[in-house]
Amino acid sequence: MSEANKDLMEKYMKEVALRRKYHEQLVELKGNIRVLCRVKPVLKEDQQEEGQAVVVTTDPNNESALSVINKGKARAFELDKVFHPQATQEEVFQEIGPLVTSCIDGYHVCIFAYGQTGSGKTYTMEGSVENPGINQRALKHLFNEIEERKDMWSYTVNVSSVEIYNELLRDLLSKDGEKLDIKINPDGTGQLHVPGLRVTEVKGFQHIKKVLAKARRNRITFGTKMNQHSSRSHALLCITVHGTDLANGSKTTGKLNLVDLAGSERVWKSGAEGERLKEAQNINRSLLALGDVIQALRGNQTHIPFRNSRLTYLLQDSLGKGNKTAMVVQVSALESNVGETLCSLKFAQKVCRVELGPAHVTISFRMTRDAMPYKTSQR
Ligand SMILES: Nc1ncnc2c1ncn2[C@@H]1O[C@H](COP(=O)(O)OP(=O)(O)O)[C@@H](O)[C@H]1O
Ligand SMILES: [Mg+2]
Repeated sequence: MSEANKDLMEKYMKEVALRRKYHEQLVELKGNIRVLCRVKPVLKEDQQEEGQAVVVTTDPNNESALSVINKGKARAFELDKVFHPQATQEEVFQEIGPLVTSCIDGYHVCIFAYGQTGSGKTYTMEGSVENPGINQRALKHLFNEIEERKDMWSYTVNVSSVEIYNELLRDLLSKDGEKLDIKINPDGTGQLHVPGLRVTEVKGFQHIKKVLAKARRNRITFGTKMNQHSSRSHALLCITVHGTDLANGSKTTGKLNLVDLAGSERVWKSGAEGERLKEAQNINRSLLALGDVIQALRGNQTHIPFRNSRLTYLLQDSLGKGNKTAMVVQVSALESNVGETLCSLKFAQKVCRVELGPAHVTISFRMTRDAMPYKTSQR
């Protein structure tokens, strides 16, 4: 390489390093763990009772606020971002795109869809043929970025897909939904691995679309065999991106985990028994464990309870400190769902609020003021 070329190359590398740094700063400014809420539009088929009231309202002047009316009382929630019912798949992806870029830069990323059955989790993650959701948009973005960087970096992309049902792990890319176990890697790194898990190397967007279709088909067939509906299991799509810097040989590994969670509805309230009750308890336990893990991470706690469910155990190395997570909480706006909507928003608020600082400070301040014989302003 001529001296002039070397000089140019060095300058270019510096620019690339700066871009990565600024990108990360931007993502971190927004927060490494983000809790978003998407309000489902009222569809004709949801209106079983004519003229049902819409009880969820978003605020056009405040994109973090949302309020819910229950029994005549309004309750306000504040999250990192709220999507109004008319928000498009593209608008939702705009919030997620930067995390996909982080994944190519070597970060581990988790994106979850949470909510009661029918609230739009699968629509947000998978979407429809005409209007694809986060999964396809993320993968398209991933391959576009890889193409743009091809003179500087070489990448390989591997995909696996599993379902967690009743705390059992099944391979969605195997023929018969093989049951899998999570083990500690014998290589001494302490990392987890899943022996026997099928991992497919994908070469481009069209190829990965076929793999996604296979996982979706398998989810439905295995589901029918077990006489169970897909809304009662967590579906995970795990993409691993290995990068090699062509100039100096340095390597990065990023992971993108896209998770369509099981429905969060509390079925035991309607008197479920037997298998259905066991299922519900398992779902409840794993969603609770996920909430606890995110809350502990966001609160910078030293002990993170990863081992309390298969889901958090499996995602341990992607959820840990320094990684990035987005939780999209889906809610229905209709009065008939208000109980579940409030529960989902309380969950969202619980994992969201931690960063606001120690609560007791606020409480003691309020108590002092309230305990005063007259208000400060009256002095
Ligand atoms: N934002 C939206 N716009 C249009 N249709 C939606 C939207 N969200 C959900 N739906 C539709 O509502 C129905 C239930 O959504 P779905 O994603 O299957 O819910 P879940 O996966 O939470 O059970 C589906 O028919 C889906 O296409
Ligand atoms: Mg679904």
